[in-house]
Amino acid sequence: MLDLKRQYLPLHRELLAAVEHVLETQQFILGEPVAALERAAQEHLGVAHALGCSSGTDALWLALAAAGVGPGDSVITTPFSFFASISAILRAGADALLADIDPGTFNLDPAAVVRVLNGPRGAAVRAILPVHLYGQCADWTSFARLGQEHGLKLIEDAAQAWGAEWQGIKAGGLGDAAAFSFYPTKNLSAAGDAGMVTTNSAKLAERVKMLRQHGMRRRYYHDEVGWNARMDGFQGAILSVKLKYIDGWNEARCAVARRYHALFAAAGVAETGPYPSHGVVLPHEVPGSRHAWHQYVIRSSRRDRLREFLAARRIGSEIYYPVPLHMQEALKGLGYAEGSFPEAERAAREVLALPIFPELREDEQQTVVRAIAEFLS
Ligand SMILES: Cc1ncc(COP(=O)(O)O)c(C=O)c1O
Repeated sequence: MLDLKRQYLPLHRELLAAVEHVLETQQFILGEPVAALERAAQEHLGVAHALGCSSGTDALWLALAAAGVGPGDSVITTPFSFFASISAILRAGADALLADIDPGTFNLDPAAVVRVLNGPRGAAVRAILPVHLYGQCADWTSFARLGQEHGLKLIEDAAQAWGAEWQGIKAGGLGDAAAFSFYPTKNLSAAGDAGMVTTNSAKLAERVKMLRQHGMRRRYYHDEVGWNARMDGFQGAILSVKLKYIDGWNEARCAVARRYHALFAAAGVAETGPYPSHGVVLPHEVPGSRHAWHQYVIRSSRRDRLREFLAARRIGSEIYYPVPLHMQEALKGLGYAEGSFPEAERAAREVLALPIFPELREDEQQTVVRAIAEFLS
């Protein structure tokens, strides 16, 4: 599914030198290695502020808390994401409201968000938290309009979307604040847990800095109850090295995606969807946006059997995500039930992520597509 060693081997000298420098300078927490990454990230994303932190999960919490979201507020997000998209809202002390997804992109559907805003619980909504799922930006034209019309904060869950764009603006610079994850499987990845908050607001950035250090502006004077959510120096140094290569890696991912499209079309099994019939529905790039191709996710009506068939041939695949958030045991208290979000529930039954990473070879892709075509025949 993913071979991280193919990225590491050509970089290992450069990475070891960066790690050695941290050891020599003993800057283990924040410090210059993280500050250097923050400056480079600001430039790369075209944002005014980038703040390194301990994980994507903490980045989401920091972004929400810094934006002033807390008890008594409600935040709307998608039921079809990783658990952290919603747990960060709950950790911030806010209520989480869900709205269904667009079956074509798997991202939060603005029309469904409007229905929540106009519903009985709409008045308490303070923010929307769309997720740029699989590396494709959520419909930011609609969310920006909704944010303005209703006076809401917009927080991007950009954990999977380093390098993605919406109408020429990079993910991370679209909302009031954004959260990135550098979990080792992400497009831009650390050697452990790490994350980042980006924002164009000086006030929000200042609050993130304070909150990631236990609410301190001055050492041992705590203005608010924050948390320990700092990035460590090793991750800052490693990410600074990798940031230099991310554009090339993302282009390579895009080439891999194009090659899958062509191979599936040539095999005669590609369908445009949104729902599958006998073949597989391929992912597509929304016009005017740039997909970061964190995942290449197809839809199949016989997904589970297809996955077993691939596994028997030692072909990796993954299901992101098999259980929608409203059906998770931990979230029963939210008051939703099976049937609440039919699009998310159907996606959870049909999606299958295929291997995609910059170094994936054409012959390996041919093997994947041949096996899928064989299964379908
Ligand atoms: C959509 C989404 N949000 C949030 C996170 C949380 O990031 P982390 O694992 O770095 O805490 C992840 C990644 O795991 C993710 O995929």
